[in-house]
Amino acid sequence: MRSDYCGSLTSQFIDQEVILCGWVHRRRDHGGVIFVDLRDREGLIQVVFDPDRAAIFALAEQVRSEYVLQVRGRVRQRPAGTENPELATGGLEVLALELTILNTAATPPLQLDAYSAEAGEDVRLRYRYLDLRRPEMQQRLQLRSRVTQVLRQFLDTHGFLDIETPILTKSTPEGARDYLVPSRVHPGEFYALPQSPQLFKQLLMMSGLDRYYQIARCFRDEDLRADRQPEFTQLDIEASFIDENTIMELMETMIRTLFREVLAVELPDPFPRLTYAEAMRRFGSDRPDLRMELELVDVADLMQTVEFKVFAAPAKDPNGRVVALCVPNGATLTRKEIDDYTQFVGIYGAKGLAYIKVNDWTAKRHAGLQSPILKFLPEPVTEALIERTGASDGDLIFFGADQASIVNEAMGALRVKLGRERGLMEDTWRPLWVTDFPMFERDSDNGRWVALHHPFTAPQIEDQDQLAQDPGRCRSRAYDLVLNGTELGGGSIRIHQESMQRQIFQLLNISDEDAELRFGFLLKALQYGCPPHGGIAFGLDRLVMLMSGSTSIRDVMAFPKTQAASCLLTGAPSAVDAAQLKELALRVKPR
Ligand code: AMO
Ligand code: AMP
Repeated sequence: MRSDYCGSLTSQFIDQEVILCGWVHRRRDHGGVIFVDLRDREGLIQVVFDPDRAAIFALAEQVRSEYVLQVRGRVRQRPAGTENPELATGGLEVLALELTILNTAATPPLQLDAYSAEAGEDVRLRYRYLDLRRPEMQQRLQLRSRVTQVLRQFLDTHGFLDIETPILTKSTPEGARDYLVPSRVHPGEFYALPQSPQLFKQLLMMSGLDRYYQIARCFRDEDLRADRQPEFTQLDIEASFIDENTIMELMETMIRTLFREVLAVELPDPFPRLTYAEAMRRFGSDRPDLRMELELVDVADLMQTVEFKVFAAPAKDPNGRVVALCVPNGATLTRKEIDDYTQFVGIYGAKGLAYIKVNDWTAKRHAGLQSPILKFLPEPVTEALIERTGASDGDLIFFGADQASIVNEAMGALRVKLGRERGLMEDTWRPLWVTDFPMFERDSDNGRWVALHHPFTAPQIEDQDQLAQDPGRCRSRAYDLVLNGTELGGGSIRIHQESMQRQIFQLLNISDEDAELRFGFLLKALQYGCPPHGGIAFGLDRLVMLMSGSTSIRDVMAFPKTQAASCLLTGAPSAVDAAQLKELALRVKPR
């Protein structure tokens, strides 16, 4: 039916006959000549219908947007002055010699021939098959396909085997709620959809498969955001007889290869590494965006004795933190802008956002500063602040003081927001590894220890004797790959000894009985010669989102769900009929 793609025509085709198939992107009547922009996967080409050919001209008059056409025609250069430099094929057109209308189309509910930012996401998702026709979406899905292809090839070359793991399975804890599937054959019993293939990939190492990968669908019932979907894809990887350096170096090489081959971008070699502690101290985040230089500066030691309680109290509290954040040229911020930033940090629980404007420190010293808190600060403290933050004339210093966790979240987020809004963000790629995570953190609800990564992550060898005494100080052998402020992937060296795995379960308040019930198969497998092993999983959607310059992973998934976890296209989730429920031995509680 077709000789070439519309978008693949080049000047080499001039004077050749082609047969094209595609959709009517736009139709224009110009003084007796009809122009149709015909669109397919690869792009657009202008097709010209000449009134001299009366029969096909009459047919062309009938076509409307999104009609499906087959056109036989001759490629020619566009007349001088009518080229379209915006279009890859903008110097060419096809003179139609034959036209078949393959199908008609109703008027589309969203505009496809211009960026339809005004078309709400609801309409886009309800008519996703139309939304995906937009060139932008076509390019994203093509990029995604290219990405998986390069990744597969890299892993294949390095001896990784592509192995599938079950979707109907038992719970794999990654910190979210499970999606459950009722069993008809076992009334009252449920499968869980995997939050990740974590336990199966570990079992594959115990089976001696040595190197595994999978492009794996994962399911997590959690609060959704722009970079979180209930069902998403991981590039999941595991290997035996490796340590963290081996896997990190190999994964870096893979990501560098990917960026080189797909985007022609050269990423740094090696990727910088930061410990968790350093990342929190300097950036208030374990996924710092290194595209801007702003850093949090600790000033608690200067504030211990000041009269301003807001600063002095957290400065003296071992769980408190007081930081300064110097904004270059920030002295021009208006009252309103500062109020807006104060409101912004409030989202993260900060009770205020003190500041000092450094208008003219060079000439006027203290008289050149402007701030509602100066009256509380002795001059030597102010001097030390200016010195430590490196502030110069025209800058502004923000302050955050509270529990360390609140200060980190609020000031870490403020740093990124300022970077974006004040033009402090470089347009570049800044990957890094974050290492030496704590093994555990306290659950804010019940104060119990929970695993920061997952309960199968090995503790650092030198910290193992801390496990019993002071679990909070024990660091894990986990590592995260961060790119431009997004956590792209995370992994760890795993526990390969049964006794250690049992000890960790105990620490996490999982009773022996419960451990047996939930993870008995793993504990048993660990008894039969488990090799040391470790791995990582990348969020494929997030990776493609960043590579395509999108701001939401929904834009790089063919059929994503809404923030409320529903599919507007199919209407899932939906009620099922009584017979189906009965078969599953389920009854729905009336609302
Ligand atoms: P983790 O839970 O960190 O690790 O997940 C790995 C990566 O998957 C991506 N990701 C998500 N992407 C979209 N929507 C979500 N809801 C979502 N949740 C996570 C992130 C994240 O870095 N089994 C371990 C990996 C391992 O230890 O090997 C795991 O799943 O980019
Ligand atoms: P107040 O004395 O409450 O008027 O606060 C004086 C200044 O300190 C204001 O600019 C507040 O925004 C700021 N502020 C109050 N609480 C905090 C806090 N926890 N961290 C940083 N600044 C604060």
